[in-house]
Amino acid sequence: MKIFSQAPTNIAVIKYWGKNPKFEDYHIPTKSSLSFSVLDFYTKTYLDFKPGNGTIFLELNNKKINPNSEEFLYIKNFFEKLSTLIKEIKNYDYSIKTENNFPTAAGFASSASGVAALAVAIAKVFELSEPKIFEKYFNSEQKISSIARIGSGSAARSVPSAGGCVLWSKPKQDLTTQDLNKIFFCSDAKTLFPPNHWEDLRIFYIQLEKKEKKIKSRSGMKQSVSSCPIYSNWVDYEENILLPSIIKAIEKKDFENFAKSTIKASNGLHAIMYYTFPRIRYLTDKSEQIIELVLDINSKSTKLAYSFDAGPNPVLFTLKDYQEEILDALSSVVNKKDIFITKPGAGAFAKVI
Ligand code: PMV
Repeated sequence: MKIFSQAPTNIAVIKYWGKNPKFEDYHIPTKSSLSFSVLDFYTKTYLDFKPGNGTIFLELNNKKINPNSEEFLYIKNFFEKLSTLIKEIKNYDYSIKTENNFPTAAGFASSASGVAALAVAIAKVFELSEPKIFEKYFNSEQKISSIARIGSGSAARSVPSAGGCVLWSKPKQDLTTQDLNKIFFCSDAKTLFPPNHWEDLRIFYIQLEKKEKKIKSRSGMKQSVSSCPIYSNWVDYEENILLPSIIKAIEKKDFENFAKSTIKASNGLHAIMYYTFPRIRYLTDKSEQIIELVLDINSKSTKLAYSFDAGPNPVLFTLKDYQEEILDALSSVVNKKDIFITKPGAGAFAKVI
């Protein structure tokens, strides 16, 4: 039987950068994060499954992926981890053909959309073939979001089908258990505001670099948790001050406060990276040039926010009314063909084809 699924990438304004080290493999975040699901950048996945023993065939962007390659092992590891709780995962063989409509890596987009598309497709497999297992592990979007989290933390936020502004909450209590069911389902994401809540919000992806990032986010964040002296202060500040204030700004469509908080969160993340040992630096001189431009424009009135992930490429937020003016201003530093304009969009879905 064949399943088609699609999931958007997401851009976080309050970032995920660190896991509880006691449960490293299960991606339990040290703090909550907040993102927008993105309308125009997504992964499409075709999943064929038949009774078997967990064998995987993988094709990425129309190329067969070698079982010894990094991408293959990443997906295999996801299935292995799922099968520690859900043994029935291995009842099938899977042929996965997946395509991104955006360049992979370079901090331009993460594994979020790919893993989210796979998670909703796997949920469909069990909905169709093993209703009891579906009921136990996949019968809500929040559970499927947790399942995606096991593959890639940020993927949890690409799952909620309404998309828009999505909150991935840290666990409500400190986890002390070894109960896998609790470990799996302790932290998930849900939509706070649908995409049409803030119709005028625009998101600019600027591709300054096409190369893969040097330090993978997975190892970078681990280094920050273990070595950054101000890590826990940052977590407290983001969780208790910045997150509530940015949610309020989005709720009220207050662009000025939204932009200020978004900029502070991006600066905070890169300061944490810089204060990690050894130092992690993703921003380049070109990235700094964009930051200067944004600050210059905002010195008159706040029209822009920047946000950088684990890479040099900026994502900017603005409003529809300023879009043309911002494009003009950017053309002094970047090529127009490297700017992609989009807005918040829906989340993931899967269907039988
Ligand atoms: O894709 P992951 O799960 O390794 O996490 C990457 C997290 C960042 O993209 C750096 C920030 C975020 O919250 O999206």
